[in-house]
Amino acid sequence: MRHIQVKQGETAEATADRPWWHSATIYEIALISFQDSNGDGKGDLAGLLSRIDYLTWLGVDAVWLTPIYRSPFRDLGYDISDYCSIDPAFGTLDDFDLLVGRLHDAGIRLILDLVPNHTANDHAWFVESRSSRDNAKADWYVWADPAENGGPPNNWLSRFGGSAWEWCETRGQYYYHSFLVEQPDLNWRNPQVRAAIADVMRFWLDRGVDGFRVDASAVLIKDELLRDNPPNPDAGGKPPPQRLTPVFTDDRPETMQCIEDIRNVIDEYPGRLLCGEVQGKTDRIGHFYGNHRPRLHLPLNFALLDSPWNALSLQAAIDAYLNALPSQAWPVWVIGGHDKQRIASRIGEAQMRILAMLLMSLRGTPFFYMGDEIGRERVSIPPDRIRDPFEKLVPGYGLCRDPERAPMRWDDSPNGGFTDGRPWLPLGPSDSRNVAGEQRDDHSILALFRKLIALRREQPCLREGEQQPLRSQNDVFAFKRVWNGDEILVLLNICAEPRKWHGQGRGRLLMSTHLDRQPQPLPDGSVLLRGDEGVMIAVARP
Ligand code: NOJ
Repeated sequence: MRHIQVKQGETAEATADRPWWHSATIYEIALISFQDSNGDGKGDLAGLLSRIDYLTWLGVDAVWLTPIYRSPFRDLGYDISDYCSIDPAFGTLDDFDLLVGRLHDAGIRLILDLVPNHTANDHAWFVESRSSRDNAKADWYVWADPAENGGPPNNWLSRFGGSAWEWCETRGQYYYHSFLVEQPDLNWRNPQVRAAIADVMRFWLDRGVDGFRVDASAVLIKDELLRDNPPNPDAGGKPPPQRLTPVFTDDRPETMQCIEDIRNVIDEYPGRLLCGEVQGKTDRIGHFYGNHRPRLHLPLNFALLDSPWNALSLQAAIDAYLNALPSQAWPVWVIGGHDKQRIASRIGEAQMRILAMLLMSLRGTPFFYMGDEIGRERVSIPPDRIRDPFEKLVPGYGLCRDPERAPMRWDDSPNGGFTDGRPWLPLGPSDSRNVAGEQRDDHSILALFRKLIALRREQPCLREGEQQPLRSQNDVFAFKRVWNGDEILVLLNICAEPRKWHGQGRGRLLMSTHLDRQPQPLPDGSVLLRGDEGVMIAVARP
């Protein structure tokens, strides 16, 4: 087994009792949109390699890459034809090994996307499975006989529109697909499938990857009786795939055993991380961590993205999430992703700075998505350039994911320093936010992200401290982090007008989201926050 050691940085350090991700900042990269190296208009591994200096400069401790495996790319690579090879558009296994080594040399860990729920329909497993009812892989996918009327076995819907069942003439049966017709679901009731995915994991873990983000982790098992899903009482105005409540297709109890199996493989490799996509409400978070049998280390939590943007709602969303965690569970906070609408477009640039401070000062592992650090907003995509299969199949609901998948804008040139060719998706106007421009500006949001990451690295209180709620005053969302006698107060003005915070004792202002206040003493801890300003204050010991 080859395992490349990460040179331990100051922050993402694994100690006997604290895994490295407790102190890590994790950065999601959609590889196809990060940096092109060969002019084909698509980001690739060599491109990412050339941007390691940027990652180091920014200060992130780990990157999570969207799928890099061989794929027809109908769904951003979440349709995999071969789990153990790199898609030629991205490079080779040699490029991958080089990248892992270079990232590790830079003290940056690498997390891959694991897509265990479905493959592409040109995967050799499916080609064999659909060839007859009695081949060696006949039971590797979810097959069912037609209903009495010859139609699909039940009413289950694909998330990407229409019935989730597709007829296969050769077998005289239907197969199930949670997503595209071209993404058949694997049958996780079959131990051979579990063993095959475990081998896939070992293949990459042996190459040195530091963990996985498990895609669609809540839907691995479907109801054995194929019971119909009931109507969704809240379906009004929602896209047709949400017409039914997916009680018999999502979050089945047996799915948790699958996650435990996946976790067992991770535990064969000490120090590796298992995150998982958990779409849904905070009240489901607990069982994804597992109580008696460990499941995910970090079930991704989108509460900050889902909350209305005001002090009271944020206070409630954060409180509800922290209260829902099982004891010993480590929190995690996500502010962007390849499926999520850019929050900067919703809350605006000024409040995006507040979100940056909030993310980096909450207790728990912060995740952000490439471009969030420059305040990137949704990029308008002309209809003839749309690539997202969801938008093609379920148009008109404003849910297209391409606006957040647009390539990184590194500079203000027409192709943004991303490619010399034609970018696979447009980058948006040249005068929009870009890395080079923000690197030149000491007060940019990029400068703010970098400073916050550095501050979190310096301050054990921000990484490890207890999080204590405070009663928010007057649009100011406030909480405290407490560690070993140190206290840091976080005050976030969620409105555009000035707000006074009435303190209760001496403190020292550490930083402002405006990046224009010098560290300074605050005699009674009170502070006048400007509109859209957040500050951190070190509370003086009595
Ligand atoms: C979840 C991924 O995040 C999303 O992008 C994809 O469309 C679905 N899984 C289906 O693979």
